[in-house]
Amino acid sequence: MCGIVGYAGRREAEPILIDGLRRLEYRGYDSAGLATVTGPEQMHVRKRSGRIASLVGHLRERPAPGCLGISHTRWATHGPATDANAHPHLSSDGRVAVVHNGVIENYEALKRHLQEHGIVFQSDTDTEVIAQLVAYHFDGGLMEAVCRTLPLLKGTYGLAVVSPDDPEMILGARLGSPLVLGVGAGEHFLASDPAALIGQTRDVVYMKDHQLCRITADEWQIYDRERTRVSASVHQIDWEVGDADKGAFEHHMLKEIHEQPQTLANAMRGRLDDSESTAHFGGLNVDNQQLRRANRIILTACGTSYHAALIGEYLIEEFAQLPVEVEYASEFRYRNPPIDHNTIVIAISQSGETADTLAALRESKRKGHLTLAICNVVGSTIAREADGGIYLHAGPEIGVASTKAFTSQVFTLGMLALHLGRLRHLSALQGARIIDQMLSLPALIEESLECDAQVQRIAEKYAHCSDFLFLGRQYLYPVALEGALKLKEISYAHAEGYPAAEMKHGPIALIDEHTPSVFLALKGAIHEKAMSNLEEVKARRGPVIAVATQGDTAIAAKADDVICVPDVPDYFQPLVAVIPLQLLAYHIARLRGCDIDKPRNLAKSVTVE
Ligand code: G6P
Repeated sequence: MCGIVGYAGRREAEPILIDGLRRLEYRGYDSAGLATVTGPEQMHVRKRSGRIASLVGHLRERPAPGCLGISHTRWATHGPATDANAHPHLSSDGRVAVVHNGVIENYEALKRHLQEHGIVFQSDTDTEVIAQLVAYHFDGGLMEAVCRTLPLLKGTYGLAVVSPDDPEMILGARLGSPLVLGVGAGEHFLASDPAALIGQTRDVVYMKDHQLCRITADEWQIYDRERTRVSASVHQIDWEVGDADKGAFEHHMLKEIHEQPQTLANAMRGRLDDSESTAHFGGLNVDNQQLRRANRIILTACGTSYHAALIGEYLIEEFAQLPVEVEYASEFRYRNPPIDHNTIVIAISQSGETADTLAALRESKRKGHLTLAICNVVGSTIAREADGGIYLHAGPEIGVASTKAFTSQVFTLGMLALHLGRLRHLSALQGARIIDQMLSLPALIEESLECDAQVQRIAEKYAHCSDFLFLGRQYLYPVALEGALKLKEISYAHAEGYPAAEMKHGPIALIDEHTPSVFLALKGAIHEKAMSNLEEVKARRGPVIAVATQGDTAIAAKADDVICVPDVPDYFQPLVAVIPLQLLAYHIARLRGCDIDKPRNLAKSVTVE
């Protein structure tokens, strides 16, 4: 949520900042801006509401010279997306420019105080108070002024500050919102997300809360809140430049949907152990005794990751027979449930930065629980703060609507369930069978993807509809929730996911000939019962799009449209069944002319509460 890029070096800053912002645009795209510094009293600020393209147009007319600068792409929290509210924000005297990600909760009180001292504000944002406060405390040194400002701020920030009065340096600070420092030769970078640095440097330093950093072309330093220099280790990013590009695909989302056979293969690489019929994870940091002692697991997450957690609940209960609860992180963080000390709390997050998930994790740690994280972004805050964890290795996910991260999360939860099961009552034979099934999944997902052209035709038939129901039972109920979420997010059609049998307690009232139901009716333990629910929809003249198992010829007589996916055991059905739902959302959104990779009002990584 909001992207920050800073550069201090010997090359022109503007193209580097714009390249970085483009890589972060998925985090927020309401407005964009930058400030470069070329010497005392020489700061060049350019900003525009709208996408980065409109900033680039503006820069063509008025380039921003210089080899040092900061930049920002915004997801609006305080004040609408206007030029005035775009970052960087300047102090009234023009001595300080700030870009900020996060929320300053006490900005109104601070603003009032500054206004009483005659300071005139130019924007509606919370960020402007930071710029004004730094200028207010400026007495020759930028570092000193920033250090006097930070303790006054309540809330969260990842921020970068420059001043023409201290023209060689950028200062960065972090509390609750991510910030990384990029190390190059004769140049240094700052970014809210390492993805911004792809193609510039692979060496990054992840900043911690309450830390401050100072970068110049030749040096970087990290300080704690007492302004004492602290050591920090440099990590290598293992992403390739091409990972974050669209390749031959029209959208990142479509590329990511088609990457799923590969991302699943990446998730399992080196983790499935034939000899012990189990899964192993390098970074779990929990010994088998601790895992055996666990008597309950809490999975906490937001959005699509929450839907993956719901499937994880079924998987862990089935393979390991351990009680599992799934909690929205935004609710869990404020509850005070009685949890005993043999409970493991697992935070699931693609970005590893979602504010609510991070807060839920911290709250659990505070109460003494063992915490684990399942994350995609290596080095992200949640990944670093958990006691141990598992990375998805799915590569950067750029499309705001999550797809490949979802299947990797579900699969990883399956591997974890297998591991937990093998420490309990799952036999070696059962473990071996599950591993065989897991190994065949990438090829089966490839087969699922073959429905693309057919799903496109179905999308053409229904793209005009304004309401959809998504129905499924057991393992397919969370998939129904996820299918509905995908459609809402990117096509703006109203969609509801429901347990198929629960539908008759309310949503059935919505069914008529204009309201299609997407029915997850794969062969399995309760197929017959799901089919009765399908009949209930048909009896009310509701159009039915069925997702069925290959070879199920009977269903064609009952549904208006049938999409077939490969036959897999019930517990792996979410992985093959979600593919047509991702594609359906994609094609409907495309036919409706929506901006698929950057849907309105959304952001990829939600770093505010
Ligand atoms: C945002 C994104 C969703 C995502 C959710 C949780 O709302 O738009 O796609 O599922 O955040 O994100 P996380 O990174 O924690 O999985």
